Amino acid sequence: MKALILSGGEGTRLRPITHTNAKQLVPVANKPILFYGLEAIVECGIKDIGMIVGQTKEEIKEACGDGSKWGARITYIEQKVPLGLAHAVKIAQDYIGDEPFVMFLGDNLIKDGIRSFVKEFKVKKPNSLILLAEVKEPQRFGVAELRRGRVIRLIEKPKDPPSNLALVGVYIFDKSIFPAVNSISPSWREELEITDAIQYLIDHNFKVHPHIITGWWKDTGRLEDMLEANRIILDTLKSKILGEVDGTSKIYGKVVIEKGVRIINSTLRGPVVIGTETRIVNSYIGPFTSIYHHVTVEDSEIEHSIILEESIIRGIGARIEDSLIGKNVNVTRSDLLPKAYRFMLGDSSQVGLI
Ligand code: G1P
Repeated sequence: MKALILSGGEGTRLRPITHTNAKQLVPVANKPILFYGLEAIVECGIKDIGMIVGQTKEEIKEACGDGSKWGARITYIEQKVPLGLAHAVKIAQDYIGDEPFVMFLGDNLIKDGIRSFVKEFKVKKPNSLILLAEVKEPQRFGVAELRRGRVIRLIEKPKDPPSNLALVGVYIFDKSIFPAVNSISPSWREELEITDAIQYLIDHNFKVHPHIITGWWKDTGRLEDMLEANRIILDTLKSKILGEVDGTSKIYGKVVIEKGVRIINSTLRGPVVIGTETRIVNSYIGPFTSIYHHVTVEDSEIEHSIILEESIIRGIGARIEDSLIGKNVNVTRSDLLPKAYRFMLGDSSQVGLI
């Protein structure tokens, strides 16, 4: 069995972060989302991974390399224009050949992995096994209708959903998916939808089985989903202190402090993770916060947030909450007169002042 990870896409709902970064590489608990997917695939014994990349291909290649870090072999397949998930399958046909494969959307995070899903496919050998989860807002997803243990209908982003079972972004296919992706037409959003390709399988009497997950999963396309993913993963961490914590600092709960970190006269209330070489001075870092490497936080309070590398947060009078702060960002108090807010914000930035 092979795997196909989809790491293209523009990440429009996470702008401005995704103007300059691949959405799949935004870290959750200081680890890029994509790495959780890679680990879940390798855990199932799958070594050959085709990685579909788009505009952000260089960044993804740099982060994942040849896959040897995970004991896998990654082959990059370029999707020049984002024409949909089924289009990605189409261009991967030569790479996949006749083998069954797991298709995994690179911005999805499945906390308990996909072992039982892969096992069920191997035992029951349907033409396709699709991962489903009950959700509150099915209109935002592809939705499945089931009858007697089979999938009988799939609809992409229905206005009037026939069930609350959403397609989680993980699927297993055998080679019957190739005629399907080659037969369908683009949808209203001008994409070749994988949902339509699976419907084609159903309509042509191929066996499409559901596998419903009960554990936690998230499509991390939006800020609130990203913060929730961060919350769930941080909660699973084990405390580890490799950096320096001075005598006046206080550490409560689950806290990971990586090498080269300096915590000076500060309070950290876990779950919290602090990346290598970061400095926290005269500050409070509250629950569900991930601060990446080479960050400086001084005279500030941060809670329930993700801060990316090399940013500086200094002298902020109020607490920062529910925030995602990109790389190399400066959020500082200015003594300049006249007293004024001074911004240089990228397109699609969001600022909430008090
Ligand atoms: C895609 C699929 C959809 C699925 C979702 C899961 O949607 O088309 O069927 O439910 O991923 O994350 P998209 O993220 O392209 O809107």
